[in-house]
Amino acid sequence: MKLHVNGSEREVDAPADMPLLWVLRDLMGMTGTKFGCGIAQCGACTVHADGAPLRSCITPVSAVEGKKIATIEGLSADGSHPVQKAWAELDVVQCGYCQSGQIMSAVALLAKIPSPNDTDIDQAMSGNICRCGTYPRIRAAVHRAAELSKA
Ligand code: FES
Ligand code: FES
Repeated sequence: MKLHVNGSEREVDAPADMPLLWVLRDLMGMTGTKFGCGIAQCGACTVHADGAPLRSCITPVSAVEGKKIATIEGLSADGSHPVQKAWAELDVVQCGYCQSGQIMSAVALLAKIPSPNDTDIDQAMSGNICRCGTYPRIRAAVHRAAELSKA
């Protein structure tokens, strides 16, 4: 099947029910998106489909055929996306495992609400678990990314 990933059309030979996460990581070699729980409970596998956050661990690849898929690799090659810049500036990451998913959820939030308040942030990010407890820095970095996006 043909998939539209990060602005390019890619052909993959995958069973229709293979989770999108497997297709991205194992068939396309895009390992930025992580496997955490496999049951839509942690958010580590978050990507976008037509701009909306999606749990790729439970999404059969056939469900996103024809949609624009975006992964962490597609944000920018050089870390210049405002959310990446804010994350680096505020040193958000601890172990890093959850952070691709956190960033993809933050990007989707800012596309919908360019200047989110704390409640907006907490609601949008509540499905992304961080075992290292980086939540206060994530919240601050989303505010900073909102500022950088306007600059
Ligand atoms: S790996 Fe998909 S939500 Fe946890
Ligand atoms: S930074 Fe370690 S799980 Fe979030």
